Amino acid sequence: MILSARNLSVSLGGQRGFLRKTVAPVQAVDDVSLDLKEGEILSLVGESGSGKTTLGRTLLGLQREKAGEIRLDGKVVSGLAPEAARVARRAIQYVHQDAGAALDPWWSIGRTLAEGLLIHGVRNAVERKERVAAMLKAVGLDPDSARRYPHEFSGGQLRRVVLARILLLRPRILILDEPTSGLDMSVQATVLNLLLELREQFSLTYLFISHDLSVVERLSDRVAIMLRGKIVEMRPAKELFAQPTHEYTRVLLDAAPRLTGRRVVASVGTGVAAN
Ligand SMILES: Nc1ncnc2c1ncn2[C@@H]1O[C@H](COP(=O)(O)OP(=O)(O)OP(=O)(O)O)[C@@H](O)[C@H]1O
Ligand SMILES: [Mg+2]
Repeated sequence: MILSARNLSVSLGGQRGFLRKTVAPVQAVDDVSLDLKEGEILSLVGESGSGKTTLGRTLLGLQREKAGEIRLDGKVVSGLAPEAARVARRAIQYVHQDAGAALDPWWSIGRTLAEGLLIHGVRNAVERKERVAAMLKAVGLDPDSARRYPHEFSGGQLRRVVLARILLLRPRILILDEPTSGLDMSVQATVLNLLLELREQFSLTYLFISHDLSVVERLSDRVAIMLRGKIVEMRPAKELFAQPTHEYTRVLLDAAPRLTGRRVVASVGTGVAAN
């Protein structure tokens, strides 16, 4: 097991607010246990506000847990101060849905990517340059694009840039939070394909957060269904889609075409295997 969480609970808010109003705390993650197996894709599905992002942020160490334990390679990495938690969990990286927001508009892509390497102790400028060029290639971009600036890239290309930046840090686990939202169907499919290729090439394990059940079905080894902070069902994708046992999962599957509208229907024809 590469990552395991036991009885994880997280509450948000609850402090005395800015205007001296007391905000009731939200139990965003409620007694969640899950295991990520090395190399698998575990998808996290559930309605808006069910706690998916909060769970992801907690696994990363960006959000402190109220209770429970997290182990990375069997080693306890929870119960630490925020800074220490992030260091201990450097092998876990987050892929945000808003790719562009993570990039400095005034810096060339090459500079941004090289800076990440410098922060991680790669002192040799030539080595940085070479590794940046190789990684741009790995994500399907021309190494010359290092000279370009974020606004010169399309949405799909920006996702590739962000993936390059993250992969330069040599993560082992990626938490992908709606990684293709806001992209056209065909671009979504190519980005999903790329994610599958990169997983092979860099031996990655994915926690894949998505609303798009057709993509989840195609991509995942296992699926966890989240409802009001709890995981109510977690099973191999094939089984779950063929025979959902939890009432809420059934509701979710039934509602899928309506929830995501045209996208589900359209994606059946496109698929991640296309392009
Ligand atoms: N900073 C915060 N302070 C207080 N409550 C919060 C905060 N962030 C999120 N919440 C609440 O925590 C719960 C879980 O939110 P979270 O963002 O994890 O859900 P989600 O499943 O990722 O939703 P979505 O699918 O819309 O991204 C929600 O009830 C939300 O309103
Ligand atoms: Mg979210």
